[in-house]
Amino acid sequence: PQAKQIKIRDSTSNRGQRVVVCGWVHRHRVQGKDLMFIWLRDGTGFLQCVLTGQMCHTYNAVTLQLESTVSLYGTLKEVPAGKTAPGGHELQVDYWELIGAAPGGDEAITNKISAEASPDLLYDQRHLVIRGDTASAVLRLRHATLRGFRAFFDKKGLYEVTPPLMVQTQVEGGSTLFHFQYYGEEAYLTQSSQLYLETCLPALGDVYCITESFRAEKSHTRRHLAEYTHIEAELAFITFNDLLDFLEDMVCSVVDFVLASKEAPYFKELHKDFVPPKRPFRRMDYSDGIKWLNDNGIKKEDGSDYVFGDDIPEAPERKMTDAIGEPIMFCRFPVEIKSFYMKRDPKDTKLTESVDVLIPNVGEIVGGSMRISDLAELLAAYKREGIDPSPYYWFTDQRKYGTCEHGGFGLGLERFLAWMLNRYTVRDCCLYPRFPGRAQP
Ligand code: 4AD
Ligand code: MG
Repeated sequence: PQAKQIKIRDSTSNRGQRVVVCGWVHRHRVQGKDLMFIWLRDGTGFLQCVLTGQMCHTYNAVTLQLESTVSLYGTLKEVPAGKTAPGGHELQVDYWELIGAAPGGDEAITNKISAEASPDLLYDQRHLVIRGDTASAVLRLRHATLRGFRAFFDKKGLYEVTPPLMVQTQVEGGSTLFHFQYYGEEAYLTQSSQLYLETCLPALGDVYCITESFRAEKSHTRRHLAEYTHIEAELAFITFNDLLDFLEDMVCSVVDFVLASKEAPYFKELHKDFVPPKRPFRRMDYSDGIKWLNDNGIKKEDGSDYVFGDDIPEAPERKMTDAIGEPIMFCRFPVEIKSFYMKRDPKDTKLTESVDVLIPNVGEIVGGSMRISDLAELLAAYKREGIDPSPYYWFTDQRKYGTCEHGGFGLGLERFLAWMLNRYTVRDCCLYPRFPGRAQP
């Protein structure tokens, strides 16, 4: 009889029909000579399929190894009472075809890619690892999270733009630039699209971008990638407090979006006891952070106390964030330890109107600030930082052609996911991670 080809997600509306479903053998169980169960995977869901009698032996069903591709023909039936299957149905197979074989036995990837496998093996084999339950759940939730950010920005009326990744200006200092030859000229892979977003304000109003940033980080840490997905936004005619409110609203809205998305069932499997952050977020100035470290006996490596002006390294910052146990908006860093473009705090010009959002277990997920809007101040900042202003002419022009108060931020998507999805490292929160020593697959 005729069989309509369907996706697994459409099983419910096709109950009682004869259908054909194409997919990959996710799991299988052979029970004696006459009964075999296959869990079929097609990306839209999982379907339990039952092969009985001659379906098992006539065509050597042993060829159906894990990860082989098949099309299964049969009737979709409600599972008998007392049994469970995804969606409450199973396919009673009356015919099947092998589309693509996979090596079984000792060569089966699932034998090699166990939880105990070495991280190197897992990253070498990541093209196969992503077929697994955990890695594919993370990628699905990454998709839901990206949609959550876009939905939030859309609601706030921001335009999405796509700035270039090949650039000739630095944003966050020269030490983490990837250099390359661009038609005989020196160029870099972008560290941040912030400066380009700033140029869009007079053209489009508030804007955002979601694109890759690159950092030649020398540190092998679980929260640094050489290439990461950077979610950046720039907002015109705001105050520093508006920026903080926006960030808080964004983090909470994206969490709510993901928890209400159709991928939410995968979330529960990754992070059972997740508690959405409470509003308002704690706001803490850098100078109070220094005091917190001293009050809690956290010292520098040489045993001395932290003092105003010190760049607080990752380890003590994490200790403080983990001890406080909730998101912190860490504000108003000294000018010397922050980027050239940051606006000074009008109440204390040693400080900048800057913020890092710190999250327990992960650390900094957002860096943001108000930007210098005054031309003379910007020129002085280039000078202080030893930056040659000539390649920045277009950025400088923003202060000549109708400047405005504005601010913005960048959020590392993989860090956000490491927090929300309870992953140990950002390396497991992207498709194919890039870090020192790894550019494959
Ligand atoms: O704090 P950063 O360096 O700030 C900027 O790049 C600003 N220009 C952004 C802006 O205001 N538009 O980076 C922003 C965020 C960090 O808070 C962190 O979440 C993430 O980007 N990030 C990284 N994520 C993974 N691997 C790395 N090597 C990262 N470096 C920064
Ligand atoms: Mg930062």
